[in-house]
Amino acid sequence: MEKNILITGGAGFIGSHVVRQFVNKYPQYMVYNLDALTYAGNLHNVADLESAPNYEFIHADITDLGKMREIFNMKNISHVIHLAAESHVDRSISDPLVFIKSNVLGTATLLQVAKETWEKSNTDSHLFYQVSTDEVYGSLELGKGLFEESTAYDPKSPYSASKASADHLVRAWHHTYRMPVVLSNCSNNYGPNQFPEKLIPLFINNIKTQKPLPVYGKGENVRDWLYVIDHAKAIDTVFHRGELGETYNIGGHNEWSNIDLIKVLCDTMDEKLGRKKGTSRALITYVKDRAGHDLRYAIDATKIETELGWVPSLQFEEGIEKTIDWYLSNDEWLSNVIDGSYQEYYQQQYKEV
Ligand code: NAD
Ligand code: DAU
Repeated sequence: MEKNILITGGAGFIGSHVVRQFVNKYPQYMVYNLDALTYAGNLHNVADLESAPNYEFIHADITDLGKMREIFNMKNISHVIHLAAESHVDRSISDPLVFIKSNVLGTATLLQVAKETWEKSNTDSHLFYQVSTDEVYGSLELGKGLFEESTAYDPKSPYSASKASADHLVRAWHHTYRMPVVLSNCSNNYGPNQFPEKLIPLFINNIKTQKPLPVYGKGENVRDWLYVIDHAKAIDTVFHRGELGETYNIGGHNEWSNIDLIKVLCDTMDEKLGRKKGTSRALITYVKDRAGHDLRYAIDATKIETELGWVPSLQFEEGIEKTIDWYLSNDEWLSNVIDGSYQEYYQQQYKEV
């Protein structure tokens, strides 16, 4: 194989789309999907890839140093696309230490094992790609400014601080050991396979089942939304064309206040479900704000657009409609996640756990 790529977190939301992008588009690459299958990992997300000859799933935790050494050596890993992480801000507020372990120690473990393995190799065709978030830049005022690659890091939640720490480690390994790295920082993703704890899938499910829609604070916080497959394509672009040591911001110039976005979800779903207009808006319930809630994120994606030629392919209206349709027609995926039975799939498919 031309490259042996380790994609971490490939059973999660974004990782599953990245794995699919690489397995289907590049038969000349071997893709190893490494995932610990935490609550957020779901092998149904990649079930369509199981029989592909250039795909293998590995059940492992990135903080397990011995296991990572074994995998890098046995599989002759040449490239890493690192997505595995604890990803939900609310969980980072109630249970921060698991974020430090997976996101900080896990990234350091992978960097160190990649360094040890690649130093012994007789080729220099290697890459460590760190997939990060715009939350490392902190929070913007309403209507003022955008996150650029030069914006100083100012993370404010345990989640964003753990991702910022990981990004610093990646840059430190590049600076100190000449590790070939590239980083990207993306805005909020939406689309198929997102765990229904995040705003869009949670609200789609609550609207469907006519449960209250818990809007934090006044709903005025702004997020910049990108369809997940456009993110996967951007990662493909940065992986192949990004310059070593560089960072690329990824976003779709698509800012929405939470409350405006929620109203779009309500009205679109009323129409799709044949309900009277306004039925779902009546479910909106203002609740206590998230602690330390970042007010606004917004990405300036000029660098990736002009230097690497990536642009989002989907307009938001189309993306949100596709997303709603996906959740409405994948009832089984959603109910398996909600009742926890998705976790049994691994035990049935793979004998060693
Ligand atoms: P997710 O929570 O859906 O998936 C994370 C995956 O990582 C899961 O499959 C989980 O089992 C796995 N994982 C967690 N800890 C692990 C460990 N210790 N060892 C091995 N596997 C482990 O997350 P996501 O939303 O798909 O995010 C993926 C990555 O993209 C994260 O690094 C996140 O910070 C970043 N990101 C997410 C967004 C977004 O909007 N969701 C935006 C920008 C960047
Ligand atoms: O910006 C990128 C980040 O986007 C990623 O790095 C994170 O992994 C990802 O989870 C996401 O973080 P957010 O905190 O922005 O996403 P979340 O879906 O949790 O919340 C989006 C907005 O909606 C936020 O302002 C909080 C609000 N919200 C969320 C939930 C779950 C509510 O008002 N009610 C809710 O029930």
